[in-house]
Amino acid sequence: MLLTVPLLLLLVSPSLGAPLSGSIARPRNKLLLISFDGFRWDYDRDVDTPNLDGMALDGIKATYVTPPFLTITSPAHFTLLTGRYIENHGVIHNMWFNITTQEKKQYYMTQFVDEYWDNGSLPIWITAQRQGLKAGSLHFPGTAATYQGQRVQVREVEPRFYDYSNETEWRMSIDTVLGSWFSEQDLDFVSLYFGEPDTTGHKYGPESAERREMVKQVDRTVGYIRTAAQKHGLTDRLNIIITADHGMTTVLRNGPVKEIILSQIPGFSFRDIKFQLADYGPTAMMLPKEGMLDKVYSALKGGHPNLHVYKKEDMPGRLHYSNNPRILPLILIADLGYVINGLFPVQYSKGEHGFDNQAMDMKTFFRAAGPDFHKNLVVGPFETVSVYPLMCHLLGITPETNDGSLEDTRHMLITSEDTDISEVAPSRGPRKKLLLISLYGFRWDYDRDADTPNLDVMALCQVKAIFVNIASPAHITLLPVFKKDAN
Ligand SMILES: *[C@@H]1O[C@H](CO)[C@@H](O)[C@H](O)[C@H]1NC(C)=O
Ligand SMILES: *[C@@H]1O[C@H](CO)[C@@H](O)[C@H](O)[C@H]1NC(C)=O
Ligand SMILES: *[C@@H]1O[C@H](CO)[C@@H](O)[C@H](O)[C@H]1NC(C)=O
Ligand SMILES: [Zn+2]
Repeated sequence: MLLTVPLLLLLVSPSLGAPLSGSIARPRNKLLLISFDGFRWDYDRDVDTPNLDGMALDGIKATYVTPPFLTITSPAHFTLLTGRYIENHGVIHNMWFNITTQEKKQYYMTQFVDEYWDNGSLPIWITAQRQGLKAGSLHFPGTAATYQGQRVQVREVEPRFYDYSNETEWRMSIDTVLGSWFSEQDLDFVSLYFGEPDTTGHKYGPESAERREMVKQVDRTVGYIRTAAQKHGLTDRLNIIITADHGMTTVLRNGPVKEIILSQIPGFSFRDIKFQLADYGPTAMMLPKEGMLDKVYSALKGGHPNLHVYKKEDMPGRLHYSNNPRILPLILIADLGYVINGLFPVQYSKGEHGFDNQAMDMKTFFRAAGPDFHKNLVVGPFETVSVYPLMCHLLGITPETNDGSLEDTRHMLITSEDTDISEVAPSRGPRKKLLLISLYGFRWDYDRDADTPNLDVMALCQVKAIFVNIASPAHITLLPVFKKDAN
């Protein structure tokens, strides 16, 4: 007799933690990592975002995620690609610089300095390629560089003067990635970058109508991506992760705000400095001349109530921005909303980032959907170093040494391991959820009760269902339920 158990929800307790036999080895699904630069974690709160909301219903939404410090574009994107803190991967700034020649390269030109990016940490593309997968990248920071002799095989690097905001261009990029790269060329992993809403957030400020309009454009784009995935028959075998590098905050000016202008700080002189990176938002770095370190440090420290000055070795450990030879001996960090000017004020952005990653305005967003993710699950915050081990796990590749942890994100996934309660580690953040596991055709008493023809599903549930409330019932999600013949 074929006993059909259409829907059997069993809430698993630790005592039922044994791995289940018959868990199906899943075929490897494709993975698309998307970054919308400067998308602050709460940008969907004051804008109608039907497509992002729809994606959350179909997948995972994190309350927010914490980027690495410095909260700026290239360093934070390289953390997504490597799972390493910035001091460990070495891409310590958007700008390449040479302390001897005083040469500085801006964001775009730095993309082509191989030695800057290739400093001991391999981005996920190269690791995937070495393990037999096909990878691609479109406009993602780091795409142009060569790592230990290899580059991401399929790539598109934007031209020197590129309009990062053009929605038509965005759609062309999406058609390339989904139509050509995933469908025709059968790539396994692609990273895709959009330069907004960062630019708009800088120019008009994060609380502006212009930023809200740009978030609508992002939302339309998310809709376009998911429709394109469907059109190309990828929905059932493509996981999509959408996140970003950092948030954005309003720059404080005028009125009671005393601007930070280093040249006006008593006792401080640029003549004591051999090399400096200032006028770049809320942080600055300095190399004082021989023997001048303590003099410069003493002058700057306490020089402005909203300026914090650290010797490199005294940087707070939680920032993970100290232990790298490229980081200069003095690091200056402004309070939220303040920017650091050198000789005189030259920064006119209304929005800025780069601040301490503890500030809520620096947090960014995280969404994921696809065949390997639970549906309609809101998860607590985690650090973006942990996106990398999640991606490696999804792709079935062995990760390089990294600073993230799969334990931060594993609970988002539908896997056979989900049935092993010991795998659901206590969360680091205030993550609260209830784990529900669907066991179809789990006829534990098959041998005992062979002569009981009217065994019904409800009775089985009453006997076997055990509740385990891992934290709080605030977030309950139902796994997709399968029908299966018990035989
Ligand atoms: C900086 O320039 C000097 C002099 O040209 C050179 O010797 C040194 O290797 C350069 N450093 C970096 C990091 O490129
Ligand atoms: C990283 O870069 C520094 C110089 O900036 C260099 O001294 C070091 O050897 C590089 N490490 C690797 C592994 O490439
Ligand atoms: C946006 O890009 C498209 C395609 O490249 C181009 O035809 C169009 O002129 C651009 N729009 C603007 C406002 O630059
Ligand atoms: Zn920016």
